[in-house]
Amino acid sequence: MSQKVNISITKTAKSRLAETDFDNLPFGKTFSDHMFMADYSDGEWKNFQILPYGEIGISPAISALHYGQSFFEGIKAYKHADGKVAIFRPDKNGERFNLSAQRLCMPELPVEIFLQSIATLVDLDRDWVPGKENHSLYIRPFMFATDPYLGVNPSGSYKYMVLTGPVGPYFSKNLKVKIETHYSRACDGGFGFAKAAGNYGGSMLPSLKATQEGFDQLIWTDSREHAYIEELGAANVMFLMDGTLVTPSTRDTILKGVTRDTVLTLAKKWNVNIEERRISVDEIITGIKEGRITDAFGVGTAATIAHIAEIGHQGELYTLPDPAKRVFSNKVLNTLNDLRYGRSADEFGWNYPV
Ligand code: PLP
Ligand code: COI
Repeated sequence: MSQKVNISITKTAKSRLAETDFDNLPFGKTFSDHMFMADYSDGEWKNFQILPYGEIGISPAISALHYGQSFFEGIKAYKHADGKVAIFRPDKNGERFNLSAQRLCMPELPVEIFLQSIATLVDLDRDWVPGKENHSLYIRPFMFATDPYLGVNPSGSYKYMVLTGPVGPYFSKNLKVKIETHYSRACDGGFGFAKAAGNYGGSMLPSLKATQEGFDQLIWTDSREHAYIEELGAANVMFLMDGTLVTPSTRDTILKGVTRDTVLTLAKKWNVNIEERRISVDEIITGIKEGRITDAFGVGTAATIAHIAEIGHQGELYTLPDPAKRVFSNKVLNTLNDLRYGRSADEFGWNYPV
């Protein structure tokens, strides 16, 4: 049975498109004309609507603000060479949306409604999708608890919303990263695998400190021993070691990235040897020293493929091979761009046309 819903659409009286500088798009600062909003109460989703982007009235007592019952997703839509617009693998984000909802005691949203909300919004604001290489329309679905109630209990009411905005590259340069050995992003039994707002709030102080030490990003390690590699900032992390693609296996402290899955699928197709396993900090440092690590990069929706140029650990700085000369990650990036911009056949069915 189709779960499609009726969406009421109120268009903006004045588009901001003409006054938007598409040559200057810092990540997350520009929003398209419209947004999507729906409400959950009495056990059901209702009031599906698209309205002009703008402020919304909320009670100052909502538990999202006090206790962090809130999570989000990140997706991108691309303008293809023929002018058509497609969203990249939004079904995967729809599935993960519900994993986050379950962990935070929040209501699931049928993936079909998730896809419909995003596709309808992107269709309405399709002129906001940039056409330039390395540019896209970033899509930010999110859900938060709206009961005005200070008890520490799951809320009975929620809002689901979607914002979109044109973006350029998230990282403008190759990364100098620090292996974090004091702070943790996530812990065993916690909710690192969910895109909970609180995971990001907690990452800001360690990230700021790393920036003050001259690094661009952190490599998160396990919270028990700080001996195993987990993620790179808000991205998954991969290494090419002795010609094998190695990446931390997913667990409750690691977000199961869509881009991670995309890269692993491409690597499998290219018959690259893959290891998804625990990776110790020691083997990475030794591997760099012995010249056995030839590639290292972050993979994520915002980050795309972000080359790691230098890794800092316990006061030492280790330099990796020149990112411009790396064969694997550059092949991944070019292949991904060809797929996402519709320049090559979509053999995996990853493009969701709008
Ligand atoms: N890990 C974290 C903590 C993230 O925030 C993200 C970004 O979404 C990722 C990994 C990469 O996931 P994806 O490729 O689905 O964007
Ligand atoms: C994404 O890649 O979509 C993310 O969620 C990263 C974001 C926190 C900037």
